[in-house]
Amino acid sequence: MFFTSDNASGAAPEIMAAVARANEGFARSYGADDIMVRVKAQIRQIFEAPEAAVYLVAVGTAANALALASHCQPWGAVFAHTDAHIAVDECGAPEFFTSGAKLVPVDGAHGKMTPETLAQTLGRIGESGVHGVQRGMISITNVTEAGTVYTAAEVAALTAVAKTHGLPCHMDGARFTNSLVTTNTSAADMTWAAGIDVLTFGGTKNGCLGVEAVVIFDPAKAWEFELRRKRGGHLFSKHRFLSAQMEAYLTDDLWLRLANHANAMGGRLARGIKALPDVHLRHPVQANMLFPEWAAGTHARLEAKGAAYYQMPAPEGREGARLVASWNTTEAEVDLLLDALKS
Ligand SMILES: Cc1ncc(COP(=O)(O)O)c(C=O)c1O
Repeated sequence: MFFTSDNASGAAPEIMAAVARANEGFARSYGADDIMVRVKAQIRQIFEAPEAAVYLVAVGTAANALALASHCQPWGAVFAHTDAHIAVDECGAPEFFTSGAKLVPVDGAHGKMTPETLAQTLGRIGESGVHGVQRGMISITNVTEAGTVYTAAEVAALTAVAKTHGLPCHMDGARFTNSLVTTNTSAADMTWAAGIDVLTFGGTKNGCLGVEAVVIFDPAKAWEFELRRKRGGHLFSKHRFLSAQMEAYLTDDLWLRLANHANAMGGRLARGIKALPDVHLRHPVQANMLFPEWAAGTHARLEAKGAAYYQMPAPEGREGARLVASWNTTEAEVDLLLDALKS
């Protein structure tokens, strides 16, 4: 009953086998490996973006921070949801890598900015001439930190607001594939066709060992990204091991199959929890993350039965939790947790 995070899971056997295969013999280093040539082709094909620049890093925080740095000036403001991972969980890496761009929080229920809250916040920032930060870019997380999902139309509505100010748009897609599966949307429709300029395309949480792609739809930004990745210490010398993971991830729809399973387990958990009295879900469950709230004393009971998950703040007399299903969570594990909650 391990529901702390989807990065608490191991790597899928297909990924491990690909890494072992890539270990044979010699390969060019620093991203010049033959596998990376194929990965670029795969991603350009999947995203229907023949011009896209594609880079790999091993960590989501680095992917986000480097993507932002390549698209925002140090005196710019990055507009993102109040709970965005870049704002609350990256130890200031976006500010550090951008040389000081300011993160400006945008409100919205269930982890989602709305065109209205974004427009209001954009209206407040950037009007004080040389004395204030300038509007820089926006960042949208999909799947959101609340486990909800933006549809492509909702993404397009947000980027339309950003584009009225000429701002580039980033998507933090640490769980990008889960959002595609939920909405049954193509990678192209969720990104460049909806106004996204640069995407962090997660692999790690969805069954890889440690790899994230940064997909830059405007190739004019590519060289700057390359320089920043090297300067920031995120250009892997034995890069073939990143490439091998991404190649296997995108082969035979593995990425979609793994996310489909994680979402299905999230859905099973949500259905079971909804049937319980006195348990309330704080946000709609649209992918693989759930935020239940239950009576005080439940944590101790679940822990005694061996359940692991993050505890969240809650009002007096209640307890909050974050439960995340992974690519390899089993139905039996979900049902065990539901039984533990019932008893
Ligand atoms: C929304 C989101 N973005 C990015 C990340 C990437 O994090 P890390 O730097 O741990 O790979 C995470 C991981 O928790 C996340 O949840």
